[in-house]
Amino acid sequence: MTRRSMMAANWKMNKTVREAQDYVAALIPHATDASNVDMAVFTPLTCLGEVARMTEDSPVLAGAQNFYFEDSGAFTGEVSIPMLQDIGVKTVLVGHSERREVFGEDDAMVARKTKRAIEAGLLPVVCVGETKEERDGGGMWDKVSGQVNAVLEGLDVGGDAIVFAYEPIWAIGTGDTASPEDAQDAIGQIRKLLRESRDDAFADAVRILYGGSVKPGNVAEIMSQEDVDGGLVGGAALEVDSFVELIQAAEDSAPDEE
Ligand code: PGA
Repeated sequence: MTRRSMMAANWKMNKTVREAQDYVAALIPHATDASNVDMAVFTPLTCLGEVARMTEDSPVLAGAQNFYFEDSGAFTGEVSIPMLQDIGVKTVLVGHSERREVFGEDDAMVARKTKRAIEAGLLPVVCVGETKEERDGGGMWDKVSGQVNAVLEGLDVGGDAIVFAYEPIWAIGTGDTASPEDAQDAIGQIRKLLRESRDDAFADAVRILYGGSVKPGNVAEIMSQEDVDGGLVGGAALEVDSFVELIQAAEDSAPDEE
């Protein structure tokens, strides 16, 4: 079975509305040419409405970096899924390691948020990954499988309703990319877990991205790995030209869908 490749930009806490407009205006013509790749841009909330408006008739999905699972109420500082849908958002990041490590989101919170997004018809990109200490101490798979299992519990959907992103924390923003073999090894293990805990159809349909210092110089080799379906990219996606190069590499490595 062939899975569509996906290339996603995570802007994190960067860009004004004006900068976002310039980026998206430059991105859309290239995105329209990349017919074998799904593309998403996860932006700060302040420019998300504008990015959703600009990308509405394009193949680029406007994405939120965070939200809360309740729909409304006394949750100061939060935004809900219906609010995001109201401005045209199509996809959401869930459980990015910076949310987990800096803002204390635990597996239970990540699982509830994932379910809420899917119920509403948004595509969640659920991030999992281990720290350097966990990897060095042999606890990498305990951590990653625990994170994946927490999300799967009670989730009754097809594999195309969810995307996972394996992002080893030691590789994020450090320039210290996992080797293509390490990325394949971890992502292959995640797919095996999905096969065992669900079934072949589920495991074969779920897309699993790699994230952590992906850049134009290493993307082709990472994308060529059997189980790697795309990238979630921070630093190297902040400049639109660089993100376009990453999209092109994903397009080149994608199986032809004709
Ligand atoms: P990076 O970030 O590409 O800058 O390592 C990836 C991410 O945090 O999603």
